[in-house]
Amino acid sequence: MANFTLHHLLLCLLLFAAPLVAFATSTPDDFLQCLSLHSGNASAISKLVYTPINSSYSSVLDITIENLRFLTPSAPKPNYIVTPLDVSHVQAAIICSQQYGLQMRTRSGGHDYEGLSYLSEVPFVILDMANLRSISVDVEDKTAWVQSGATVGELYYRIAEKSKTLGFPAGLCPTVGVGGHFSGGGYGTLLRKYGLAADNVIDAQLVDAQGRLLDRESMGEDLFWAIRGGGGGSFGVVVSWKVKLVPVPSTVTVFTILRTLEQNATKLVHQWQLVANKLPDDLFIRLILQSYNSGPNGTRTMQAIFQTLYLGGVDSLLEVTRSSFPELNVTRQDCTEMSWIESVVYFAGFPSGTPLEILLNRSSNTKTFFKNKSDYVREPIPESG
Ligand SMILES: Cc1cc2nc3c(=O)[nH]c(=O)nc-3n(C[C@H](O)[C@H](O)[C@H](O)COP(=O)(O)OP(=O)(O)OC[C@H]3O[C@@H](n4cnc5c(N)ncnc54)[C@H](O)[C@@H]3O)c2cc1C
Ligand SMILES: *[C@@H]1O[C@H](CO)[C@@H](O)[C@H](O)[C@H]1NC(C)=O
Ligand SMILES: *[C@@H]1O[C@H](CO)[C@@H](O)[C@H](O)[C@H]1NC(C)=O
Ligand SMILES: *[C@@H]1O[C@H](CO)[C@@H](O)[C@H](O)[C@H]1NC(C)=O
Ligand SMILES: *[C@@H]1O[C@H](CO)[C@@H](O)[C@H](O)[C@H]1NC(C)=O
Ligand SMILES: *[C@@H]1O[C@H](CO)[C@@H](O)[C@H](O)[C@H]1NC(C)=O
Ligand SMILES: *[C@@H]1O[C@H](CO)[C@@H](O)[C@H](O)[C@H]1NC(C)=O
Ligand SMILES: *[C@@H]1O[C@H](CO)[C@@H](O)[C@H](O)[C@H]1NC(C)=O
Repeated sequence: MANFTLHHLLLCLLLFAAPLVAFATSTPDDFLQCLSLHSGNASAISKLVYTPINSSYSSVLDITIENLRFLTPSAPKPNYIVTPLDVSHVQAAIICSQQYGLQMRTRSGGHDYEGLSYLSEVPFVILDMANLRSISVDVEDKTAWVQSGATVGELYYRIAEKSKTLGFPAGLCPTVGVGGHFSGGGYGTLLRKYGLAADNVIDAQLVDAQGRLLDRESMGEDLFWAIRGGGGGSFGVVVSWKVKLVPVPSTVTVFTILRTLEQNATKLVHQWQLVANKLPDDLFIRLILQSYNSGPNGTRTMQAIFQTLYLGGVDSLLEVTRSSFPELNVTRQDCTEMSWIESVVYFAGFPSGTPLEILLNRSSNTKTFFKNKSDYVREPIPESG
């Protein structure tokens, strides 16, 4: 009986293994030849494909793995990493992955919480968009074209380089990739006034599963709607996005106020829930709650961090907080006036005076082990809660 079971188990394993064996028989040469054929430039594409035999394979793979849970030797590795330089390479990767039964994972900034842009349970190819990251800003038209492989930090920097009074509403972490971020929504400090990054996308270039290059007009409004929030990796590969830039004043004001439980944090958090959504749209106050060791002997308490961007100067900010949220007791000393792009560096957590060029650094200093989930509170949590 035991043998019988084992035999069946082996048979099952063999059956399951069969498709894998089929994939494995496609040699690297076949896949590479297919890429050359479909990209119309054999010499160019071979220099853009990494297999485990290439010495830089691991560094290219690891560089944008943001979640350290997946930066391990046992994590599944791709058969190929393709790093396209133009649309024809994207089209070739899509067509050839299908032809050779390889799953394709598209990676822009690699900040996916579950590593979906660089992991798979079956043999796979990573289409890494990092080289497709040009940004062109049109100040007159107040728009920009940005390729998916750019980071939001690069986008902010390129906008500010051309105008002190234009900005873009997207996330706080500068190393987040445009490709995954815009596909899922994208929110940050300008959320209250201008909505999500995806709300400000007005055109896009997408390569679909048949390898066709589509824009807003040729993809149609349904697909164009889906790629702005429906989640990355679902509807095709977005190569670039046309976005509407938004006006920002030349001076904005920021503050970060810390209050422990002993400093009435509980009351303030409760009050914040009642006022934060009714403040003027120019005022964004986010709240972070974390544990905190106070005193030399490390008494454990809680700390509430109120972090703010105000689209205006300190005088009018103080008027607003005094009338709408007096309990927080915001003082002039708490506040700093700066340009919008400096506020981007501030919210990214860098100390004051850090050169703006830090936003061009694509390698993240926030890599950690994490498992995070988000939820939305629709009713204020009562003070007892
Ligand atoms: C440290 C950190 C800070 C963050 N801060 C914020 C924040 O302030 N605000 C916020 O809204 N979110 C934030 N996020 C979440 C972030 O917006 C999402 O994880 C987003 O999907 C990351 O995009 P990416 O291109 O970096 O990720 P990737 O891992 O490259 O991609 C994410 C998903 O999109 C797909 N995808 C990638 N590129 C393309 C493309 N060109 N076409 C089609 N599909 C594609 C991938 O296959 C994957 O499924 C943060 C995440 C981290 C890790
Ligand atoms: C092919 O790519 C190489 C390297 O990028 C380039 O020098 C060459 O001009 C390209 N040839 C064609 C026909 O596009
Ligand atoms: C990887 O190695 C192959 C074989 O040596 C080579 O042809 C190819 O150009 C290498 N890829 C890169 C990105 O250097
Ligand atoms: C806490 O709140 C009480 C009552 O509202 C107030 O009297 C007290 O001054 C506050 N304490 C601090 C540290 O703000
Ligand atoms: C910290 O601990 C030391 C040694 O136990 C004690 O003397 C001191 O009073 C403590 N300080 C505080 C603030 O509790
Ligand atoms: C408000 O802050 C000022 C300056 O930090 C402080 O002197 C004052 O006591 C605070 N008032 C309240 C009610 O907490
Ligand atoms: C970019 O950031 C990484 C990680 O924080 C750091 O090690 C590196 O020195 C930075 N590079 C530059 C040029 O600032
Ligand atoms: C995940 O959650 C932890 C704990 O709250 C937080 O410190 C970290 O910033 C979060 N990471 C991301 C990527 O959201």
